[in-house]
Amino acid sequence: MKFMKHGLSRIVPNIVVGVWLTMGLLIVQPVLAEEKAPASAEPESASESNAVSAPLVKGGLPADDPTAAVWNSAPQAKFPMSPQVHWPNRILDATVKDLSVRALHDGTNVAILLEYADPTEDADDAAAIEFMVGDKKAHFAHGQPMLQVEGGPVNIWFWRNKDAKGVDMNAMGFGTLKTQEHQDVKAKGAYSNGTWKVVFTRPLETGHLEEDTQIPMGGFINIAFAVWDGKKDVSGAVKEKGSQKAVSSWWNFRAEAPPNYTGYYYAAIAVGLALGFQFVLIRNLKKGNRA
Ligand code: HEM
Repeated sequence: MKFMKHGLSRIVPNIVVGVWLTMGLLIVQPVLAEEKAPASAEPESASESNAVSAPLVKGGLPADDPTAAVWNSAPQAKFPMSPQVHWPNRILDATVKDLSVRALHDGTNVAILLEYADPTEDADDAAAIEFMVGDKKAHFAHGQPMLQVEGGPVNIWFWRNKDAKGVDMNAMGFGTLKTQEHQDVKAKGAYSNGTWKVVFTRPLETGHLEEDTQIPMGGFINIAFAVWDGKKDVSGAVKEKGSQKAVSSWWNFRAEAPPNYTGYYYAAIAVGLALGFQFVLIRNLKKGNRA
C-alpha cells in the first residue's frame, strides 16, 4: 500500500501537468485558428482588394446617410471602371474612371456605399449595382447569354439623382430590363466637392429567390457596378444614359459572418473539467495520505 501511495504521489503531479498542457492547447488552438484565418478578406491596402467586405455592425446602418462617420469603419475596395464598348450604343470615353466601395451589415440589412468623382452634379447622374440571382452563372452585361457564359438572371439596384430613390430591377439579356413588382431596395445620394456618395440598402435575404440575389453571411457572391454621368452636352443631350455608361466586370462581395465563439466555450468547459478533476484527485490523495 505504502508503495502504491509513493507511486501515485509521483504520477499525480505528472497527470496534472499533462492535463493542464492539454487544456492550454485547447484554449490556445481556437485563438491561434482565429488569428490565422484571413480576417474577412480585409485587404492589406484598399487598392489591391478585389472583394468588398461588409463588417457586421451593432446599432443602425447609415442607410440614409452616405456621409456618416461609421462608414470609415468599413474597409474600402477600389475598382476600375471602363466605358461600355461591348454593345450598341457604345461610348468610348465615360466620365467615371474608378469607383470606391464600402459596405456594412447588421445581420438583417446590408448597406453598400459607392463613391466616385464626377466634376458636375446633374439631374441624370445615376449609379447601379448588379448581382447574379441564384446559382446560374451570368455575364455582367445584363446576364446576356454569351458563348462562355450560359446566361442567367441578374438583379440590378438602380439610383438616379432626379428620382432620389432605389429601383429594384431584373434582366436576363439586353432588352429584358424590367422593374420588379416588389421593391426592396432603398438608395440615397449626396454630392459634394466633385464627388458622389450613393448608398444602397436592402435586406440580406428577401425571400424572392427567383428575382432577388440573396446575400448569405460569410459567403462570397459576385457584384458589378455601372455609373452614368448625366451631364448635358451643348445640344442638351445627356452624355451618358442607358447602355452608354462606365461599367465594371464581376468582383467579389462578402457580408462578414458574426464572430464564432465556439472555440472559447470548449476551452472554458475544458478548464472547468480539469479544475474539477484536479480538485477530486488532490482531495482523494489527501484522504489517502491521512489513511
Ligand atoms: C458590358 C456591359 C453592359 C452592357 C453591354 C449594357 C447594355 C445596356 C443596354 C443595351 C441598355 C439599354 C436597355 C436594354 O437594352 O436593356 C442598358 C441599360 C441599363 N443598364 Fe446596362 N449594360 C452593361 C452593364 C451594366 C451593368 C454592370 C449594370 C448595373 C450594375 C447595368 C445597368 C443598367 C441599367 C440600370 C440600365 C437602364 C438605365 C436607364 O434606365 O437609364 N448595365 N444597358
